Amino acid sequence: MFITALDLGTAEIKLLVAEVGKDGKLSIIEAVRMPSGGVNKGEVTDVDAAAAALAIAFDEIAGIDKTVLDNVFVNINGKRVVVNGSRGIAAVSRGTNEISQEDIDRAIAGAEAIKTDKNLRKIHTLVQEYIVDGIDQIQNPLGMSGTRLEVYSMIVSAFTEVLNNLTQAIERAGGRVEEENIVFGPLAASHAALTKAHKDLGVVLIDIGAGTTSMSVFEENKLASIKVFPIGAAHITNDLAVKLKSSIAIAEKVKISFGHALAKEMSTRDKINLSDIDPKLKGAITRREVAEVIESRLSEIFELVWNELKAVKKTHLPAGVILCGGGAKTSGIVDLARQELNLPVHMANCEVGIFDVASQDMIEKLEDVQFIVASGLLVEGSSQLGGQDGPKGPGIWGAIKKIVKHIKP
Ligand SMILES: Nc1ncnc2c1ncn2[C@@H]1O[C@H](COP(=O)(O)OP(=O)(O)OP(=O)(O)O)[C@@H](O)[C@H]1O
Ligand SMILES: [Mg+2]
Repeated sequence: MFITALDLGTAEIKLLVAEVGKDGKLSIIEAVRMPSGGVNKGEVTDVDAAAAALAIAFDEIAGIDKTVLDNVFVNINGKRVVVNGSRGIAAVSRGTNEISQEDIDRAIAGAEAIKTDKNLRKIHTLVQEYIVDGIDQIQNPLGMSGTRLEVYSMIVSAFTEVLNNLTQAIERAGGRVEEENIVFGPLAASHAALTKAHKDLGVVLIDIGAGTTSMSVFEENKLASIKVFPIGAAHITNDLAVKLKSSIAIAEKVKISFGHALAKEMSTRDKINLSDIDPKLKGAITRREVAEVIESRLSEIFELVWNELKAVKKTHLPAGVILCGGGAKTSGIVDLARQELNLPVHMANCEVGIFDVASQDMIEKLEDVQFIVASGLLVEGSSQLGGQDGPKGPGIWGAIKKIVKHIKP
């Protein structure tokens, strides 16, 4: 059986195909990165253009097996994915006061019954903690003794139109996606980049994409915040294009080849002649000027993160900041993030040991921080398949749990 993870980003499509072995281990067969289309700030806004870009990417993997597109797990992102905190309460029904699964389900159903816009559809209920008779911080109350069970959770919903555009684009390109296979981007990223130790200690994971920056915050193994901002690394390119009076493509080249996140480390004498990039262009810019543009946008992004950390009172996170997404490849970003957030900063590391990887080339691809969301989708996909009854069986689930346990910081 195959699982295909599709990270449909604003700038790039990232695809990972894994075969689920008899032992439940995932063998990564293919990793593809391609330009995206029809996606704006994380959201499919042009179904035809997105489908056209997806069709090209799917073509790369179609030869693997005819079922390879039957089981697509995809991320959803953008400002029309909404997160609401919610509380549910249930009285423990058994005379023995032993909390049963049915009590837990009732408490969760209570939390899910919040009133929201009628165009919103729920995609996840992320349980933060249970409280049994006033005792909080409980992760699994099953079998505990008590009379009153409370649950705190975050309900992640998306506008129907956003969900429909996403599934239509995938289907038009020849893929199949079930609604339960749609995963909120920052949640998927957390599955690949964060260990239980990170979540216990306290951590913020920041995914700097092209059109969005998303973050998730955990402490005491509890989700404290999960959020998407409609700003990302493409804004840096746009700013540079304005400054250079050039096309986006040229500005992107300048950013990738000469960019740095800390302006003060760049010389004002180090000039980039634009004619070296494109003979048709005239003029020059210093590396200091390029870095100023980059630093200013990235600082704005880190300020949004900082404000959210302050809002949820999580400014002291011992496991610090973990960065992923294409924007995290900006040179010097670790130092800038440390300066702006006053926390230790690391690049995300999807421990390739969680998967069977055939070649060195594939290992290098998977170590790329741009593949974190896709790797997390595979982890989520595997656990969902294993969680179901029937032919897909619980065997996979057990093995996957073992695999997930092996994700290292
Ligand atoms: N080496 C690099 N230095 C700086 N920026 C980079 C580098 N490589 C890629 N990027 C930037 O990363 C962005 C693409 O990253 P990514 O694939 O994570 O975004 P996406 O998933 O398509 O977008 P989103 O998540 O916002 O929908 C582009 O804006 C690109 O300019
Ligand atoms: Mg992305």
